[in-house]
Amino acid sequence: MCGITGYIGYREAYPIVVKGLQRLEYRGYDSAGIMLFDGAKAQVSKTKGKVADLEEITLQSPEKKSGNIAIGHTRWATHGVPNDVNSHPHTSVSGDLVIVHNGIIENYDTLKKELISRGYTFQSDTDTEVLINLIEEVKKHENCKLGKAVQIALTQVTGAYAIAVFDTKKPNEIVVARLGSPIAIGIGKDNSEFFVASDASPFIEYTKEVIYLEDEEMAIIQVNKEVAVRKVKDDSLTDTKIQQLQLNLEQIEKGGYEHFMLKEIHEQPKAIIDTYRGRMLADEGIIKMSGVDDHIEKFLNADRIIIVACGTSWHAGLVAEYLFEDIARIPVEVEYASEFRYRNPIITEKDIVIAISQSGETADTLAAIKLAKSKGAFVFGVCNVVGSSIARETHAGAYTHAGPEIGVASTKAFTTQITILLLIALKLGKEKGKLSKSVFHSYLQMLQLIPSKIEELLAIDGQVKHIASIYKDVPNCLYLGRGFNFPVALEGALKLKEISYIHAEGYPAAEMKHGPIALIDENMPIVVIATNKGHYEKVVSNIQEIKSREGKIIAIVTKGDITVKEIADHVIEIPETEEMFTPLLTTIPLQLLSYHIAVLLGKNVDQPRNLAKSVTVE
Ligand code: F6R
Repeated sequence: MCGITGYIGYREAYPIVVKGLQRLEYRGYDSAGIMLFDGAKAQVSKTKGKVADLEEITLQSPEKKSGNIAIGHTRWATHGVPNDVNSHPHTSVSGDLVIVHNGIIENYDTLKKELISRGYTFQSDTDTEVLINLIEEVKKHENCKLGKAVQIALTQVTGAYAIAVFDTKKPNEIVVARLGSPIAIGIGKDNSEFFVASDASPFIEYTKEVIYLEDEEMAIIQVNKEVAVRKVKDDSLTDTKIQQLQLNLEQIEKGGYEHFMLKEIHEQPKAIIDTYRGRMLADEGIIKMSGVDDHIEKFLNADRIIIVACGTSWHAGLVAEYLFEDIARIPVEVEYASEFRYRNPIITEKDIVIAISQSGETADTLAAIKLAKSKGAFVFGVCNVVGSSIARETHAGAYTHAGPEIGVASTKAFTTQITILLLIALKLGKEKGKLSKSVFHSYLQMLQLIPSKIEELLAIDGQVKHIASIYKDVPNCLYLGRGFNFPVALEGALKLKEISYIHAEGYPAAEMKHGPIALIDENMPIVVIATNKGHYEKVVSNIQEIKSREGKIIAIVTKGDITVKEIADHVIEIPETEEMFTPLLTTIPLQLLSYHIAVLLGKNVDQPRNLAKSVTVE
């Protein structure tokens, strides 16, 4: 939650930081702000609303746009409502120090009381204003420079932070630090300029060299000096690792699509190929995954797999439960990371914990991993963002390689997570002797056809849009599925509610009779996944039960279906495939349906209200 960015160098900082904030808006968009140092003083502009609103207010004051040093912020509100005063940057009482902060200072109340007793006053309700005044107090008390004051102050706080701090009295540096929230430092040619950001997207057109701070690390960034990374705890120097960015500009732009979400839906065929590229050699009948291969004995001897995740990633975990149990015959439990971390769960050294996270920064998932590790479990990560906290915290893992997902509603993250989990399940199924060589081989061939089948499905966009136009004004919607497609029903409902704000629930189809059926009348649309394998007849009976109560059926069926076509109000056909692969196809029309309904309702599809892309607070 919250995005921070900054620049120090020889260019005009305003356009760099504002563009950077736009790229970070997926992290929160309740308010936006920027501080520019114009050579004499710090100019702070901030406002409730989006980065576009910030641009609007700075339009009136060109003097607030000049300078070669800036720090900026886009906020997802935690402490204090989203208003101008609570927006970042925050300034210390003296006006000397300025900060942007992503995270939560948990002991801010105690610190605030102490600072008030020493004469400090506060304008905002934020924990961040407490932190900047704490830094000011330490600086005064210790009579030290900014870097030292930040280091000492951070030893007094609990919680999470990624901060960029600036001192108007020593305006040749930006001090950054992290604990629990990410910080990337982009290094310009010959250290002539530096960029700071919550991820590398704000600076990819300027440099490919990046340092990712680890937890409890900080750095003082000065032009023409190499970045030295230090430990917050004791100020000792660490081994600074400069990495090469793989990201390019095209990947983070809309590329002609109206929304990132639509672009990302359409990217799925390629994203899935990128996920299995180099790992699945379908013709040779081989799956190579170093993260699994290097620990194969652990996987083969595991008593249990425990999957921890949140939201859409949790839904991918539920699909994986069916996959691992069915294909590899390993018992699986799927846990909400937020519950798992506080439940005193029973975990042993013979358990494998798989943590799934697109962003790799989800606070609850990260905490669940730490708990599992502390109990001796081997933890495997399935992440999209390379170098993310979860990727670094796990013992081993596999990246999905889906490319940046910027739309707040997850789409390609879901299908690529399922692809990775499928590869692992198939590999273990084969290694454990549960799948014969020929069956394994034929599954790989089938998986290789999935991207072209998704392409085929994307071509029915017009039909889905028509269905969306019929149901866009409904207040409620039900989603039903069974087996591998029960989690897809949950995911379809989540997509609809998060971007269109229509109340939607997903259920296993057979559970309908145990309650939700009471909701059905002639106004209720029910999306039913009724593909021809698995529990087809049972789902057809459920559809009959709905029709008897006059519910409206939107059915996802396999191409050539006759039975459901006769009963349903609308059918959307998916290409034929093996049952275990169907979630990769049935998901697509549900994503498109939500997308079109939200667009027709005039909602902000890429930035739905109250949400943020990476949930770095619990
Ligand atoms: C839904 C959505 C969220 C995320 C959840 C976990 O569309 O995006 O539910 O899936 O916040 O995020 P990650 O996967 O980054 O851990």
